[in-house]
Amino acid sequence: MTNQISSKEVEIILRELRRVINNGTSGDVVEFGCYDGGTSVHLAKEIIGTDKKLYVYDSFEGLPEKTSADTSPLGLQFMPGELSVSKKQFIKNIMSARVPMPIIKKAWFSDLTLEDVPKQISFAFLDGDYYLSIVDSQKLIEKSIVTGSTIIVDDYGNSALPGVARAVDEWLSRHDAIKKVEQSLAIIYIRN
Ligand SMILES: C[S@@+](CC[C@H](N)C(=O)[O-])C[C@H]1O[C@@H](n2cnc3c(N)ncnc32)[C@H](O)[C@@H]1O
Repeated sequence: MTNQISSKEVEIILRELRRVINNGTSGDVVEFGCYDGGTSVHLAKEIIGTDKKLYVYDSFEGLPEKTSADTSPLGLQFMPGELSVSKKQFIKNIMSARVPMPIIKKAWFSDLTLEDVPKQISFAFLDGDYYLSIVDSQKLIEKSIVTGSTIIVDDYGNSALPGVARAVDEWLSRHDAIKKVEQSLAIIYIRN
């Protein structure tokens, strides 16, 4: 498995997930953009012993085309098909880590419907890198996120991926939520 996010960021994500669990916030856990499972294994481990299930989503075909919102001279390495890993490899990585297998949905986020997401979500990790990938995942989760839930979006502070911050800020302008930034992560606390 590769390290797509730093160990410090993993610590922050798990701290926030633990907070949701300790507060008794009901609802499942989702990860949009799971890649090879580097973060999924931590999420899966953290919810052992709770009634929460982990749902993960990915094209398993890598990144889609960029839109103009994602253009940055710093982000030339991000190309269509980059970060492609097979679903089989994802499953293998989860099994090697000996954690419970998540519910895996292989699809482009734009092809998913509300039927594909849990009815209640208490914790969401959005890691789709691009503007439309974040917007599509926001649309999929927004009816299911409960009061007291937390959404973490990776690459908010990454100037190589400017579409992420734009998608987050646009979404925040329409929702009752508080944002905090740590490392490259936007941590969003849902009030209503
Ligand atoms: C940076 S990687 C995710 C890393 C993973 N969360 C981790 O922490 O190890 C981004 C992933 O998002 C997926 N992805 C990006 N946009 C997508 C979209 N619109 N639909 C489906 N998958 C997408 C890519 O296939 C890739 O695996």
